[in-house]
Amino acid sequence: MDASSRENHGPPPGHVAVIMDGNGRWAEARGLPRSEGHRAGAEPVRTLLKCAARLGVRHLTLYAFSSENWQRSPEEIGSLFTLLARYLDSETAELLSSGVRLNAIGDLSRLPGPSLAALRDAVEALSGNEGITLTLAISYGSRAEIAQAAARLAARAAAGALPPEDIDEGLFASELWSAALPDVDLLIRTGGDKRVSNFLLWKIAYAELYFTDTLWPDFGEEDFLKAIDDFRSRERRFGRA
Ligand code: FPP
Repeated sequence: MDASSRENHGPPPGHVAVIMDGNGRWAEARGLPRSEGHRAGAEPVRTLLKCAARLGVRHLTLYAFSSENWQRSPEEIGSLFTLLARYLDSETAELLSSGVRLNAIGDLSRLPGPSLAALRDAVEALSGNEGITLTLAISYGSRAEIAQAAARLAARAAAGALPPEDIDEGLFASELWSAALPDVDLLIRTGGDKRVSNFLLWKIAYAELYFTDTLWPDFGEEDFLKAIDDFRSRERRFGRA
């Protein structure tokens, strides 16, 4: 099949994951504090969610705060969690009426109390919805996720409750924080860097990767549609000939 006959022939991705990078640079370029970049980064979240739902994407997973982000200044961490709580407070009614389900993955035990409470309340409020699932990866790192899955299986094996030979890919995947998520079809990273930064390593095994220089606060509907078009033009073989 030549490139032109392949163009846009595939279905849209079922699961899109996004590394939202570039908020700090966006703010610095305007002489603003980094927290303003994060604040501006909430707008593309709204845009993408609406656009993805319209296109029939079933899962949108966003890297909102990595395990490594705990090393940032207390001010920046505080501003990110305040922003998260505000976003949830102000958006939950709209998310409820548009059918969005909410999910969170990561080491949530490290979250500040009020943010965790806001998150739990929002997840609960939206649990009856049946539309697109928005998953926020918060205090998330794939290596930690994989290590905790291994530790849980090892504990069951050590207790004699699990024969080690029963451990296969399916059982292992069922112990991941992201167990309820399907494999990622399309991974988008904004902000110019071309790496996966410890995000959903298990689930991106056959994902198509899309990198753009656009900084996250500037990433709009046009940019998203371009990424989707690019995805649909690719031939996916999943290791087959
Ligand atoms: C990376 O940019 C971005 C983050 C660490 C935070 C992502 C958070 C948001 C987009 C806020 C809105 C999210 C929700 C769910 C309401 P960076 O600070 O590393 O940017 P830089 O590479 O330019 O420094």
